[in-house]
Amino acid sequence: MNSTRRSWIVLFLLLSLGAIAITSATIRLLAMNDASLHGIPANDETGLQHYLDYSVISLMHLIPGSLFLLLGPFQFNKRFRQRAPALHRNFGKIFIVAGLMVGFSALSMAILFPVIVNSFSTIGNALFGTALILCLLVAYRFVRQGNIAAHRQWMIRAYVIGLTPASMRVFILPLFVILGEDKIMPIMPALIWFSFSVQILIGEFIIRRSPKPRPGVSQTANTANA
Ligand code: HEM
Repeated sequence: MNSTRRSWIVLFLLLSLGAIAITSATIRLLAMNDASLHGIPANDETGLQHYLDYSVISLMHLIPGSLFLLLGPFQFNKRFRQRAPALHRNFGKIFIVAGLMVGFSALSMAILFPVIVNSFSTIGNALFGTALILCLLVAYRFVRQGNIAAHRQWMIRAYVIGLTPASMRVFILPLFVILGEDKIMPIMPALIWFSFSVQILIGEFIIRRSPKPRPGVSQTANTANA
């Protein structure tokens, strides 16, 4: 398969993966809107009340989270970077701000929302929210210093962490259907830790497999081919 074809397939797969969490975010936003107009349904078991109690934080999570997952695949697409470098820079700024909002809101939600199962999931969400913030700040620092190779590595780390709520749903939703909520909820904290850890390992694998910058070649030229 040639590299152009592969890069469009990766773009499509990442957008499709992101669409899973974007769909969940849209459903949650519509439910919040409905509840604010007509009240929370008596039979609600989805924790709608705490999303409304902390509506600003929830909106700060769901809307920028969707933007983060929408822009990410384009930012890592070689053809897109080569064809529209100015757009890549502008999208990059939006991506970083959106990612920081996701990280800070995830951290706040982990602390403020009632504990879903036990504090293991709370610690996980707080830790990975913080990791997202740190990766984005380090990535930004490197791009300001002109170290594009290091910038790219930290952006990959940030993206794989932010992509976890999407990839997690790929296997958790079928598990819910097959095994039922009663069996899945108790192991939810372990699933959260497992999903984030696997994503981080995938990110490290991608970084290690990427071609190393060659001495004497400008970093910008190198990463354009990454
Ligand atoms: C570091 C990354 C992230 C962490 C640690 C995180 C953590 C959290 C936490 C703690 C909640 C509240 C769970 C609850 O008690 O109901 C939540 C909800 C949610 N998050 Fe994230 N999140 C992250 C990134 C994202 C991204 C990028 C999206 C993309 C849109 C997203 C979509 C959602 C959705 C849709 C919900 C609502 C779930 C529902 O409807 O039950 N999250 N997240």
